[in-house]
Amino acid sequence: MTNPLDLRQAFGHFGTGVAIIGFYNRENRPVGLTINSFASVSLEPALLSWCLANESQLYDDVEAVSRFSVNILAADQIDLSNRMAGSGSHVFEAGEIEATNDSAPAIKGALAHFDCHVHNKVEAGDHLMLIGGIDGVRHCTEQRAPLIYFRGAYTALAENA
Ligand SMILES: Cc1cc2nc3c(=O)[nH]c(=O)nc-3n(C[C@H](O)[C@H](O)[C@H](O)COP(=O)(O)O)c2cc1C
Repeated sequence: MTNPLDLRQAFGHFGTGVAIIGFYNRENRPVGLTINSFASVSLEPALLSWCLANESQLYDDVEAVSRFSVNILAADQIDLSNRMAGSGSHVFEAGEIEATNDSAPAIKGALAHFDCHVHNKVEAGDHLMLIGGIDGVRHCTEQRAPLIYFRGAYTALAENA
């Protein structure tokens, strides 16, 4: 038997990066949601996945989307990560997203960016798993520190570990 608190704490030992999912909501406004459930799934075809809590206020918007972006955050994007993880507005300000032809908002300064269509959605317990088919990818070529999440808190990669 597992209890949810133990499970959450055990899951938390798997250190992850942090990403923001970007999409246009039902009012056609660019919105974002902080996640760490990102996983690479397949190279050919190019697929990734992430999971959305059933209780999210964005659930109905996500259910309705056909496209989304995944933006892998840099260490200096912690403020944006916190804002998009809050229960307040998830709407991006104009200066926060790139002017692109992509059909989902791309965050300026992200380490990597995936432009996706919804390949599949799977109801999975208290989350909805989204599998994205990747139509475009960009990543930065300089060495920049990622934002890391471990045991319920942001942290940084240890230098020279
Ligand atoms: C580092 C981090 C990772 C998160 N990962 C996820 C996730 O993978 N899936 C999810 O649904 N919520 C995740 N959240 C929580 C959502 O960002 C947060 O619940 C949501 O933005 C606020 O609630 P709302 O969706 O009802 O507005 C994460 C939060 C943080 C800070």
